[in-house]
Amino acid sequence: MGKFSIVQHFREQWKSLPIHSGDVGSKAVMVVGSNVGIGLEASVHLTRMKPKFLFPTCRDEEKCERTREVLMERTGDDGDGIIPLPLDLSSFDSVRAFAATFAAQPSSDDGLNVLVANAGMFIREYTTTSDNWEITLQVNYLSMALLSILMLPHLVKASTPESPSRLVVVSSLGHYFGAGRLKKAAQWESVLEGVNDKNLCYSGDRYNVTKLLEVMFVRELAARLPTPTPVVACTVHPGFCLSNLFRDISGKWYTRLLISLAGVLFSARTAEEGSRTLVHAAVGPDELAMHGRYLSSCQVAEEADYLFTPEGQAFSGRLWTETIDTLSKVDGRVPEIVKQYLRVD
Ligand SMILES: NC(=O)c1ccc[n+]([C@@H]2O[C@H](COP(=O)([O-])OP(=O)(O)OC[C@H]3O[C@@H](n4cnc5c(N)ncnc54)[C@H](OP(=O)(O)O)[C@@H]3O)[C@@H](O)[C@H]2O)c1
Repeated sequence: MGKFSIVQHFREQWKSLPIHSGDVGSKAVMVVGSNVGIGLEASVHLTRMKPKFLFPTCRDEEKCERTREVLMERTGDDGDGIIPLPLDLSSFDSVRAFAATFAAQPSSDDGLNVLVANAGMFIREYTTTSDNWEITLQVNYLSMALLSILMLPHLVKASTPESPSRLVVVSSLGHYFGAGRLKKAAQWESVLEGVNDKNLCYSGDRYNVTKLLEVMFVRELAARLPTPTPVVACTVHPGFCLSNLFRDISGKWYTRLLISLAGVLFSARTAEEGSRTLVHAAVGPDELAMHGRYLSSCQVAEEADYLFTPEGQAFSGRLWTETIDTLSKVDGRVPEIVKQYLRVD
């Protein structure tokens, strides 16, 4: 069981993190949200390891092409194995189209060894998507879950007993604060609709709630994968890092100054330092110890206390059921994949 501790925060922020490298020459690796920030730095590290294929995903074609160029410039790679693919997580249609495009690629014939679901966002204003979900909930949680499920057959295909595939979902220490908004969740008719409700959270809170939902989803998924698992699934906190995550509140000079001050006060990592935690989960050793767990500073760490309470366990179970029901309506492949690849409840 775990909770936020400021002492632990500083201990971790001051830690120097290893740069893991793995033998990925025969592997296909995907990093979602790879044009900037932690995802870009993780993609640079992974490109240097020369995977058979690296699939960096970005919101649109232009960012995809630019990211490929940046990766080639920064690593000296010839770019032959770098296949950028557009993916906008604020649209279920985009996730569905992305999954179809990936499946049609000859480069996906051997499956996918590593999926790093890194993309995430923070926004102040309550904003809805064309799918009628609050945007943070859809981008950080629902689309991440849809993508993970649609990619599951590819992850299983690439898996071997010696080298299970990996699903790495980038969560946050913010998940420790997410439970504060779920105190009355037992009375909600639907947990997803509850989190989606405009009056439930102010936006900063919803970010933390979505990060908690990610931890729950990965734990629920891991519990349903067969044993021994073909796919190691875990969540990662990259540390407090300087990146573009707070772009929504960095429009004014004084908010930019406050963010920079917070960076100094709370000993922020660079995005490159933070990216090492993603690389560790993607290719580092002892992967079986990571299965279903939350990692911080390249080590398995304790998940929020809430997850171990009867209320938290009930919420998590309802979340799984509602997520699968909701996503099954979005894409007919979801129930088939769940039936074929996961244990029945
Ligand atoms: N920075 C931190 O201190 C910190 C701490 C804990 C956890 N995290 C987590 O780390 C992950 C990476 O964040 P970061 O700090 O590197 O932030 P960032 O610099 O803002 O990068 C976020 C990435 O997600 C992508 N993204 C956002 N919305 C998207 C959408 N609708 N569809 C597809 N991609 C989308 C962004 O693409 P665009 O550039 O096109 O928007 C970008 O590539 C996030 O999951 C975040 O929650 C960060």
